[in-house]
Amino acid sequence: MLTIKTIAEMQAWAGASQRQGRRIALVPTMGYLHEGHLSLIRLARERADQLVVSLFVNPTQFAPNEDFDRYPRDEARDAALCEAENVDVLFQPPVDEMYAPGHAVYVDEDGVARTLEGAHRPGHFRGVLTVVAKLFLAVHPDVAVFGRKDAQQLWLLQKMVRDLNFPVAIAAGPTVREPDGLALSSRNAYLEGALREQALCLSRALREARRRFQEGERNAYLLRGAMLDIISAAPDARMDYIEIVDAETFAPVAVVNRPALALLAVRVGGTRLIDNMELSEGAAS
Ligand code: PAF
Repeated sequence: MLTIKTIAEMQAWAGASQRQGRRIALVPTMGYLHEGHLSLIRLARERADQLVVSLFVNPTQFAPNEDFDRYPRDEARDAALCEAENVDVLFQPPVDEMYAPGHAVYVDEDGVARTLEGAHRPGHFRGVLTVVAKLFLAVHPDVAVFGRKDAQQLWLLQKMVRDLNFPVAIAAGPTVREPDGLALSSRNAYLEGALREQALCLSRALREARRRFQEGERNAYLLRGAMLDIISAAPDARMDYIEIVDAETFAPVAVVNRPALALLAVRVGGTRLIDNMELSEGAAS
């Protein structure tokens, strides 16, 4: 596995691969890899000849009061995991390589990026869209793979690719869960003691919404209420939002009569977690 740290070298490698007719897949990550990332890496492996994983904790998607400094990092372990997955290139640029002094151009979206995660984390999606656009321009992927756990991020990246005509196909991998239902996240490392158990309120709430949906409930207000009851029962859990949106437009719905997503963000102790589940006739239980 090659480790590349500069954009110029990454672009040169990508150009050479493309001249040889090889398809490139990219899995962007912020490191501290877990099974969720590994499942995306395996999905990407099937879609291309060359596999690049980027490892970059992107400062522009964290607000000043957020956890950029304490975000979990273990670069040696990440590299070993990528090596074991037969990753061809680990792209691991330092911060001043991605954001040279004076960097001032950003990619942003004006609608959905202001709602839900964007309303609670102003500037977050501007940081995500900008860094992913820069990664695309460095790696020249034919396909890039993202997880469905970050459903709003996935929707916005698909929109960015359409609106800015990036020649990249976006593929989505399913959320990977612990056996008890907790969605895998690098931030789960913050959950200690009783908080780990309380964090199950997110997946329990979503499963309850799906159960009621499958029994015929279509009123989004009532489905959200059922989720809120479960979150409120966890003593250290505080809801940021619970919403049901149209899966295609990401607009909140009052009646679930088309494929929808139930989404929630909850602070468990000091740890902010997000999760979502599809509500549609054919969705797996
Ligand atoms: O989902 C993430 O880990 C990050 O938001 C991403 C897409 C790697 C951009 O920094």
